[in-house]
Amino acid sequence: MKGVVLISGSGSNLQSLIDNANHIGLEIEAVISNKESAYGLERAQQANIPIHTINHQQFSSREEFDQILSQTIDQYQPEIIILAGFMRILTPEFTQKYTGKMFNIHPSLLPKFQGLNTHQRALDAGESEHGVSVHFVTDELDGGPIIAQSRVNVLADDSADSLAKRVLVEEHKLFPEVVHWFTQGRLTLKDSQAFLDGQAL
Ligand code: GRF
Repeated sequence: MKGVVLISGSGSNLQSLIDNANHIGLEIEAVISNKESAYGLERAQQANIPIHTINHQQFSSREEFDQILSQTIDQYQPEIIILAGFMRILTPEFTQKYTGKMFNIHPSLLPKFQGLNTHQRALDAGESEHGVSVHFVTDELDGGPIIAQSRVNVLADDSADSLAKRVLVEEHKLFPEVVHWFTQGRLTLKDSQAFLDGQAL
């Protein structure tokens, strides 16, 4: 299945998708970043994947940025759009256009800790468990139907960094697995609910 991956940073999730691409039936046609400095762009180049940088600071509105982003995506006609650490709020016009085929990974056990600094917030809240969620993207930020989650225990001496590292290990396993379900045609979105093999998740 043809896909486009959107990133803003290190791209370790992108790397796990690249490494698993054959196994999960994914052809990454392009990687798009809103930041020129994103290390993930180098990872893409090393894998011979075309890259695009669209600097959001050069646009006067979210709508204009999203329009160019959408045009860039559409030239590849992807069947799946993967947000792998893409740190931009998207307009409803954009998210609605790709509903049912756009996925995001978020480092918390949603609906807990939507938004930023999830690891520190989980520590501050005294959580005993933390983790990662993969969800369909809708126009609600980090609020689309949840598909799958992985959990880690919070340890007494955890810092936000140590916790983030353990969560990332889980991210790198979970995201390719969910993408695989979709490339196999097993995962769908109906009436704001995710289904795997016809069963509501
Ligand atoms: C990950 O924790 C992801 O869940 C979040 O941003 C981080 C991106 O990391 N949305 P990377 O760029 O994939 O290394």
